[in-house]
Amino acid sequence: MKKEILKLEVTYLDSEEELVPNDLILLQQARQAARDAYAPYSKFRVGAAVRLANGQIIKGNNQENAAYPSGLCAERVALFYANANYPDQAVEAIAVTTQGNSKPIHEPITPCGSCRQVMAEFEKKAGRPMKVIMQGEEGMIMIINGIQTLLPFSFLDDYLLKYNS
Ligand code: THU
Repeated sequence: MKKEILKLEVTYLDSEEELVPNDLILLQQARQAARDAYAPYSKFRVGAAVRLANGQIIKGNNQENAAYPSGLCAERVALFYANANYPDQAVEAIAVTTQGNSKPIHEPITPCGSCRQVMAEFEKKAGRPMKVIMQGEEGMIMIINGIQTLLPFSFLDDYLLKYNS
C-alpha cells in the first residue's frame, strides 16, 4: 500500500486592493456580468470573466431555465463563448464572483465540478496554467494557478488517446 499527500497552493488576498491591475479589471468584469445573470429560479447570480492571451475579456453569467437542467453556469457560458469565437486564443485567467443575493456572500464562489472539468480541458488546450480568481460579493479573494488545484486526477483526453485508438 502507498499513501500520498497532495499539496495544493492557494493564495488568499484580503481584498481587491491586493490584486494586480489586470486581475482587478477581470474581477470587475465578472461582477458586472453577475448583475446581468439570468437566475430567476435560484436567485443566485454568478458572473465570470475570461481573459484571453490577446488581452481580450469575455464575460458570462449563469443562464437558468424553467426546465432546470437546461441552464448553464457562468463559467461555462464564458468559456464556451470564448472558445467558440476565439478558438486560437489561450485562456489565461478566469474570475468568478456573485452579485446581490438575498444574503450577502462574503466568501469566494468556487466553481462547480462540471465547470472545473471544462476548465481542465481548456487549460490543457492552452498548454499553460489557468489562473482562477474567486470572490464573493466582497472581501477575501482566493487565487489558484492551475486547475489541478481545483480538480486533481482530472479526466483528460490522454485516456482517450491512450486506450481508444
Ligand atoms: N452556478 C454557477 O453559475 N457557477 C458555479 O460554479 C456554481 C453554480 C449557478 C448555476 C445555477 O444557476 C445557480 O448558480 C445555482 O446553482
